[in-house]
Amino acid sequence: MKILITAGPTREKIDPVRFISNYSSGKMGYAIAQAALESGHEVTLISGPVTLTPPEGATLIKVTSAAEMAAEVHKFAPDADVIIMTAAVADYRPANPFDCKMKKLPGKLVLELERTEDILGTLGTNKLPQQTLIGFAAETDDLEKNALGKLERKNLDWIAANLVADGFGTDTNAITLYNKAGNRIPLPRGAKIDVARSMLKVILP
Ligand code: CTP
Repeated sequence: MKILITAGPTREKIDPVRFISNYSSGKMGYAIAQAALESGHEVTLISGPVTLTPPEGATLIKVTSAAEMAAEVHKFAPDADVIIMTAAVADYRPANPFDCKMKKLPGKLVLELERTEDILGTLGTNKLPQQTLIGFAAETDDLEKNALGKLERKNLDWIAANLVADGFGTDTNAITLYNKAGNRIPLPRGAKIDVARSMLKVILP
């Protein structure tokens, strides 16, 4: 199967030397790419800025911002059997990024932010009949409620839910999978590569 995976954070430009981002390491997405390759699938990995070595055999597309990630995802999505959105895409970006380095002034600074595209939301709206769509929910609280809300709102087949404290930026993870049919499948806590292998066994059609 053709599997499209996104990984890592995005960076949203404030000025030529500053950006807004998050602590995502990309490790979970890269582990899923590795596990999918081991199972003989064709993998396209669209990655935000990370310091990881890409798994051998994957087609790697490097992006920086949410807008660039959206453009690449929409380019490859029509051809993908399975799409796994592991990336921690920024929900907001500076509305008016500066071309020159900002200079500090006395007092407070207010940055105006605007929404980025909800890439997974768009994919859910335009989901092709044969496509399996998987999202991630990294939450600090109300894990199950938030995950089920995203599963429904974004028209997903599966959502992989984990607590930020369990999986964000770390080498291990503890994931529970939920699907539309009402199944709740907790995966054994472990190294991200092992979690990735167990996850694919459950979700691949
Ligand atoms: N995602 C995306 N595009 C965005 C933001 C998130 O495709 N601009 C994807 C992530 O890759 C992840 C899932 O959506 O698979 C989780 O998104 P999240 O932002 O946490 O969900 P929301 O529904 O926006 O909920 P909230 O911001 O209220 O937590």
